[in-house]
Amino acid sequence: MDGGIAPPPRRHDTAPRRIYLDNAATTWPKPESVWHAIDRYQRDNGASAGRGAYGHALEAQRVVMEARRGVARLLNAREPRRVVWAANCTDALNLAIHGYLRPGCHVVATENEHNSVLRPLRWWSDRCGVRVCFAPVDAAGFVRPSTLAGLLREDTRLVVVNHASNVTGALQPLAELAAVVAAHDRAALLVDAAQTLGQVPWELEADCRVMIAAAGHKSLLGPLGTGLLYIGPGLEDELLPTRQGGSGTDSERETPPDSLPERFEAGNLNVPALVGLIAGLDYIHQRGVPAIAAHHRELSNALRSGLSAIPGVRVLGPTTDLPSVGVVSCLIDGFDPHEMAAILDAEFGIETRAGLHCAPRIHGALGTRERGGAVRFSIGFATTSADIETTLDAVRAIAG
Ligand SMILES: Cc1ncc(COP(=O)(O)O)c(C=O)c1O
Repeated sequence: MDGGIAPPPRRHDTAPRRIYLDNAATTWPKPESVWHAIDRYQRDNGASAGRGAYGHALEAQRVVMEARRGVARLLNAREPRRVVWAANCTDALNLAIHGYLRPGCHVVATENEHNSVLRPLRWWSDRCGVRVCFAPVDAAGFVRPSTLAGLLREDTRLVVVNHASNVTGALQPLAELAAVVAAHDRAALLVDAAQTLGQVPWELEADCRVMIAAAGHKSLLGPLGTGLLYIGPGLEDELLPTRQGGSGTDSERETPPDSLPERFEAGNLNVPALVGLIAGLDYIHQRGVPAIAAHHRELSNALRSGLSAIPGVRVLGPTTDLPSVGVVSCLIDGFDPHEMAAILDAEFGIETRAGLHCAPRIHGALGTRERGGAVRFSIGFATTSADIETTLDAVRAIAG
């Protein structure tokens, strides 16, 4: 590899190539245009955005705005300035939770939540008397709107909803869950769209009391180091900045600027990564989200039904007739998930993710926590039917 990091050699080099099925962690490969755009920017521009007034700095600023517009377009949001950059989805969720909660308030979340929601919430409940309750999921991993409605209280300040589970792939009925929160009138909704933005058509109204956290490096096809929080109208006044520092504007003030997005973006932005993100967004807009959704659904359903047919294999979450994203997790009788993932990698060149996937509650609900979790296969835009066939053959060989 050209200056890269070589993978360890395989025990039996039976696989024709690397089959990367860890796209829920971060997508790989990215479209070629992403690598080229970053390379070009680093070589030819390299300036920081929102600071200087010379040509290259202004170009950097233009690029940052273009990336905001690309995300706003996906969200059907009118105001790109409501898209605030973060380092990853965890960072965006931390801003939303730490910036929005107040001591003693009540929060509702779901059993599908990732540790990037669970841990900030736990911080508030341990230190600031915040009460958190969790909406349970049904056997397929879905939260029922009526269940959520039953948990809301007078003093509920925030409802956090995982849009699609990074363990089961279950795609929640977001519009119905959002309607429950909207009917409450006082609570704001925080959507964890880490596994959905860029992969499923966005149907949620953006002009309401909603915050949407997403990763730029997953289905948006940007590089690692990118994330974002969309802040719905009115919420910016109630959201406190969790980082303070230089913004390139209002430098005479000792407090952060009031304007969006500067209020929440202290310090230099990761412009090279945002340039890559623009190329990822361009790919998505050109191919179209419905086509991308269909690709993920077709391949994950092929995997889901193929795995379910193998004796000794238990597939978690939704059946193929239920809404899901390109994430499929399973267990094989007699195998520890880590052992199975190690065999898939070493013997077949198939890269998966084993364990609890930073989502211990959903594994608890599905009864897989005590078994060390599961093995997760997650599909990307470049995954092929042949990859799925090879994966099924490998699991058959292991289970057999
Ligand atoms: C549902 C969910 N939320 C949040 C995150 C955190 O995303 P990031 O890796 O961008 O911090 C992940 C990552 O896998 C996730 O799957």
